[in-house]
Amino acid sequence: MEPLISIKDMHKIYNPGENEVRALDGVSLEIHEGEFVAIIGHSGSGKSTLMNMIGCLDTPTSGSYFLHGKDVSRMTDNELSDVRNQEIGFIFQGFNLIANLDAIGNVELPLIYRGIDRKTRRAAAKQALIKVGLEKRMTHKPSEMSGGQQQRVAVARAIAASPPVILADEPTGNLDSKSTKEIMQILEGLHKSGRTVIIITHDNEIAEQVKRVIYIRDGRIEQDYLNEEKQGE
Ligand SMILES: Nc1ncnc2c1ncn2[C@@H]1O[C@H](COP(=O)(O)OP(=O)(O)O)[C@@H](O)[C@H]1O
Ligand SMILES: [Mg+2]
Repeated sequence: MEPLISIKDMHKIYNPGENEVRALDGVSLEIHEGEFVAIIGHSGSGKSTLMNMIGCLDTPTSGSYFLHGKDVSRMTDNELSDVRNQEIGFIFQGFNLIANLDAIGNVELPLIYRGIDRKTRRAAAKQALIKVGLEKRMTHKPSEMSGGQQQRVAVARAIAASPPVILADEPTGNLDSKSTKEIMQILEGLHKSGRTVIIITHDNEIAEQVKRVIYIRDGRIEQDYLNEEKQGE
């Protein structure tokens, strides 16, 4: 089967010239549909840069990136934003919810950008909120919810349009241990129902809960291994 994500010899150089930073220095990796992956590394190792590439938020200096069969490494900003909309559900460390919209309103947003009609949108948003256990918080605003609940809204927003890839950047970075556990269980559940889930983290404990771990250091993949106890799941 063709990989969902195929990156070959990707480089990202910030400030080319004397003060250049080689944030990605020859990264190659493939991720198949349905995988549950953690990209882990210390601060400054290139995680966010790689996330920006995988998430079509930025383009590389060189190298190729095929997402779902499309070459996205040479796309214009407009083309990238279309691909983002269709292919990626984002979850961020800081939740990034709109303060004056309730949970349903937040979850509906990406569906509006996809041109989905109001009734279908509402139904999909409700479904997604039920999936993350927030059926009783649908009309609550972010300020009326705990951090863990807000991140569950963000997860619902990421999955509502059923994008092929769920991309989470330090999704538990702002959460206490109980909420961290809840979010990880939800992400694992998404994986088990066939979604492709990629978590970017600096946290070893998070990486241990994920099936495949890609360790990045100084912009290069240093290790790419499978967690034994997660096999067969
Ligand atoms: N926009 C930028 N301009 C210049 N340097 C950057 C920029 N973004 C990141 N960097 C540098 O690239 C390297 C990788 O950063 P980043 O991808 O944010 O790492 P991580 O997310 O693992 O902490 C770091 O040395 C960082 O300082
Ligand atoms: Mg980062």
